[in-house]
Order: sequence, then structure tokens, then C-alpha cells
Amino acid sequence: MPKRHALITGGAGFIGSHLVDVLLDRGFEVSVLDCLAPQVHADAELDDEGWPIYLNRGARRIRGDLLDDGVFAESLAGVTHLVHLAASVGVGQSMTNIVDYSRNNVMAAAIMLEALSMGDHTVERMAVASSMSIYGEGEYRRPSDRASVAPGLRSHAQLETRSWEMDVAGERLEPVPTTEEKALQPASIYAINKRDHEEMFLAVGRALQIPTIALRLFNAYGSRQSLNNPYTGVAAIFISRLLNDQPPLVFEDGGQLRDFVHVLDVAEAFAVVLESDRPVWDAYNVGSGRSITVVQMATLLARLLHKNIGPERLNRYRVGDVRHCFPDISKIEREFGVKPRRDLETGMEELAAWVAHVRKPFDRAPLSLRELTEKRLVV
Ligand SMILES: NC(=O)c1ccc[n+]([C@@H]2O[C@H](COP(=O)([O-])OP(=O)(O)OC[C@H]3O[C@@H](n4cnc5c(N)ncnc54)[C@H](O)[C@@H]3O)[C@@H](O)[C@H]2O)c1
Repeated sequence: MPKRHALITGGAGFIGSHLVDVLLDRGFEVSVLDCLAPQVHADAELDDEGWPIYLNRGARRIRGDLLDDGVFAESLAGVTHLVHLAASVGVGQSMTNIVDYSRNNVMAAAIMLEALSMGDHTVERMAVASSMSIYGEGEYRRPSDRASVAPGLRSHAQLETRSWEMDVAGERLEPVPTTEEKALQPASIYAINKRDHEEMFLAVGRALQIPTIALRLFNAYGSRQSLNNPYTGVAAIFISRLLNDQPPLVFEDGGQLRDFVHVLDVAEAFAVVLESDRPVWDAYNVGSGRSITVVQMATLLARLLHKNIGPERLNRYRVGDVRHCFPDISKIEREFGVKPRRDLETGMEELAAWVAHVRKPFDRAPLSLRELTEKRLVV
């Protein structure tokens, strides 16, 4: 088999570092391109070369920023498989740092795709991380006629009455798994950036005849997620609170349904779509297939970390959040045979075991809540 060489942008991050391990195991040569963004890595434990200690030394490491002249183009030498994971990833933060988010997400993707369009490369296949956030609200069913509906966001007027569920024309809608066909209604700058990532890669990939797959990731959890970044990763943020003996802060009443998928199931999904030779330009949900509420997640984590601390329901709404969204994961299974293999309880136990060995994180949740409140992004 000819040598396969994967370049992973953002490969020193949470999902990227696991994907490095999985691809090395499958015989790929792997290069990581990462700028080690301070918000993600500033408090991380680093090795003697300044990279996170968890990053596999079997990968070539390129420290560089996608936005800097020539960095991406120079990293492409010999690359056959490209995975774009690098991004700024906080939903709430994206609503205030709009220029930074759009530059680091949209402009960086533009720089990459323009470099590919110059034709001087050996890339045969690409995958890009998209996100559940691009759906906005998930899919629902109207009980009266069992019709499938895709409602827009809840109105400010409704949210001010602290009525959280999805009521339309006097009827309470039932959440159901969201399929890839649902209309996209991104509700934050981050979500718009991720939709752009997906559409930009699919459009240019098709034009250049490089098969391209966008994976719409739901909430990934697992080891190596930054516990010090208060802007992203609900499980990591809750862990950081609990390790500081503080209650996880839950928006609304905590009844929002989400799908938490093990990071290795995410990494394996990337590996499978990259290894396939199917000529596709399409998007796929990646989740665990099981949904739980945010409060259930907080309670499970408290139990596993041996903390007798319940979540604090803020009874407030964070702009950009949706009530319920969890995926129908049948399309990627049908087309690629990808099926999640880890159940939540075992995965969370593993996460708790990892947490026991990391440095105690800073509790920055109050800071991020204060910032969002000052900017009127928490109602
Ligand atoms: N974690 C999730 O639950 C989740 C859910 C949906 C989508 N995603 C997407 O998956 C991808 C990876 O997410 P993650 O959770 O691993 O995030 P992460 O923050 O842990 O990793 C992102 C990495 O990208 C690097 N990076 C950021 N900007 C860069 C730039 N300009 N140049 C080079 N490197 C840069 C950072 O240093 C970091 O190491 C992102 O695109 C994110 O939008 C993640």
C-alpha cells in the first residue's frame, strides 16, 4: 500500500491528539499543525519541546498558525490526507469576539483552500470538523399530527418568562433525533463559522475533485480536553467546577437534551471516512445515539468524582443555546459502517480516572459567566 500521510490541523487539541493516536495505529504517517492557542494550552502540562505531554511523539510536529503566511502551504509536503480541526470553539465567546472568531475560523479555512486550489499538492482526501451547532434547534415532532417539524429559536419574550420548552401554537413539541436533512439554522457566530467550514470544504473539495467529508460532531467528551478553558466543553467545565468543590452551573433548568460521544468514537469516525475510498462530498452526524439532560450529566460526573455536589440551575438563558438537539446517527453507519463503541458510563469512568492524574484546574466559570452577563448574552 502506498504511504498515507495525514496532516491534522489542530492536532495538539482534544480531538486532534486522539486522532493522531488512532491514525498512527492504523499505519498513517502523521503530521500535526498547531499554534498551541493559549486559551487551550496555557495551563497544560508540556513536554521538553513545549508540546502537550499527551501528544504522541510518533507524529511530526509543526508549530504554526494557519493565518500566518505560507505556514499551511509549507506543511503540505507529501500529505495525502488532510483533516481540518483547528478552530476557535466557544459558542458564547464567539458572540463577543466576532472578528477573532471569523478570522481564525473562516479566514483560516479560506487560506487553506486557496493553497489547495493552486494545485501544487498531493492531497487525495479531506475531512473537516463540523458541529451540531449548525442545526440550531434540533428536530421535533408535533404530537397532534405526529408531523416532523424544525422550529426556529425560542423568542426572547418566551425566554423572559422562564418557559424553556419548545411550544408552538399552544402545543408542546417532542424532541426527536435530528437528521442531516434538517434545515441549518446556526444561532451563534461559532455555529455560522462551522457551517462555513463545512460548506467551504465541500464546495472547494468538489471543485478540485478531492473527496471531502464533513463530520457534524455532537458533544465530545474524554481525556485531554482542556479543563481550564471556560468557554467550551460542558463535561470539562463541570469537572473543573467539581474539582474546585463548586457546583456545576447549569443554564435554564438543565433539562436540555444532548448527545455526549466518546472522543475515541469521534477519532475513529474520522479515521474510517479518511481510509474509505468512496468518492463523496457530504456531511454526517457523529454522536453516541443516546441523549441525556445536562443535569443528568452534571450528576453523573459528581458521582464519579466522589463529590456530593448537585448542579446549580441558573434559570437563565445563554444567547446562542438551543433547547434540545441530539442526532440520528444512521447515515454514517449506513454509508461507512461507523458505529459508536463506547457507552457513557464506561467512558465517563475513564474520564474520571484521567482527571485524577491531572493538575487541579482553575475554576474560570464565574469569570466567563460574568463576561457573558455584562455583554447581555445571558438573559
Ligand atoms: N469538542 C467538541 O465537542 C466538538 C463538537 C463539535 C465540533 N468540534 C470541532 O472539532 C474541532 C476540534 O475541537 P476540539 O474540541 O479538539 O478543540 P481544541 O480547542 O481542543 O483543539 C483545537 C486546536 O486547534 C488549535 N488552533 C486553533 N486555531 C489555530 C490556528 N489558527 N492555527 C493552528 N492551530 C490552531 C488550538 O491550539 C488547539 O490545539 C474544532 O473544529 C471544533 O469546532 C468539537
